[in-house]
Amino acid sequence: MSKIILTGDRPTGRLHVGHYVGSLRRRVELQNSGEFDKTYIMIADAQALTDNIENPEKIRQNIIEVALDYMSAGLDPAKSTIFIQSQIPELCELSFYYMDLVTVSRLQRNPTVKAEIQMRNFEASIPVGFFTYPISQASDITAFKATTVPVGEDQLPMIEQTREIVHKFNSVYCPDAPVLVEPTALLPENEACKRLPGTDGKAKMSKSLGNCIYLADTADEVRTKIMSMYTDPLHLMVSDPGHLEGNTVFTYLDAFAKDEHFERYLPDYANLQEMKDHYTRGGLGDVKVKKLLNNIMQETLEPIRARRKELEKDIPAVYDVLKKGSEAAREVAAQTLHEVKDAMRINYFDDVELIRAQSEKYQ
Ligand code: TRP
Repeated sequence: MSKIILTGDRPTGRLHVGHYVGSLRRRVELQNSGEFDKTYIMIADAQALTDNIENPEKIRQNIIEVALDYMSAGLDPAKSTIFIQSQIPELCELSFYYMDLVTVSRLQRNPTVKAEIQMRNFEASIPVGFFTYPISQASDITAFKATTVPVGEDQLPMIEQTREIVHKFNSVYCPDAPVLVEPTALLPENEACKRLPGTDGKAKMSKSLGNCIYLADTADEVRTKIMSMYTDPLHLMVSDPGHLEGNTVFTYLDAFAKDEHFERYLPDYANLQEMKDHYTRGGLGDVKVKKLLNNIMQETLEPIRARRKELEKDIPAVYDVLKKGSEAAREVAAQTLHEVKDAMRINYFDDVELIRAQSEKYQ
């Protein structure tokens, strides 16, 4: 069986380092690994509209930002199909049929949707489209017969919902020759990558809190944000023992540092563990730790920034990548939809046997 990747993001803003360590970095590695037959990367504008009804312009403006972030992080249109969700009408058609396979109470149990409803104070006024977005996400994934979906932990309920829909569809409509494929989630490599906090130590990174480091930030912006990061409020003097738990700088090091970085920037320590031991014993100051983090993050972000500068010179070319990607994606989704309609036996005009049997009835 083919190995196929599909994943995506809602275009509600520029991508930040949380997106990078949570999924983007891994996608680029997978794309380049040669282990996958296809990689699809989707800008989920239709999904973003489900909770931004009053703000369509935000979504429209951010499509190019996300595309630039993708390509500057290393997603290569020659290897990955990058496309826009709303340009694939077949996804809506699939969703309409999948809706028959899911109950209202099942949707109400989705923990991520529950949390989002609370966060947005939707309660009784939840848009139906928002409430049902896990079904639309199942269409995104199954239209491409994706086997592997690299996502953050908050997306696990969507993958679970997709697997249930696939299972139900195949067992109802095509038990002998399953059409749809059950996907598996691929989670970030460690706890820090799963939930990278804001620079202020708050769990949630958000534009309004001003606590995000964006992929497109300048070197100066990155340095300033790192130097003012939340650390350990009890670590007042260098000689005091420091605490690692909830210490943002160390969480970021967990997500970004490799042993080779120590060789390059701070050979006093062989690896992060040695540095952590010194910090908790006492005698290591926050500034030294922050400087190391700055060196590592600048090294990681510099090539991304440089590629972005190049891409920004020809914006129409980036739109063209999205257009070509959307055309290619649409062909694949149309083929799956065709198979789905065959399995559901709603392909009346292709069904010679149906037409023959009906006409016999009337002879
Ligand atoms: N829900 C995802 C997010 O908020 C975006 C998304 C839409 C997605 N469709 C998808 C992710 C399909 C993976 C697969 O980031």
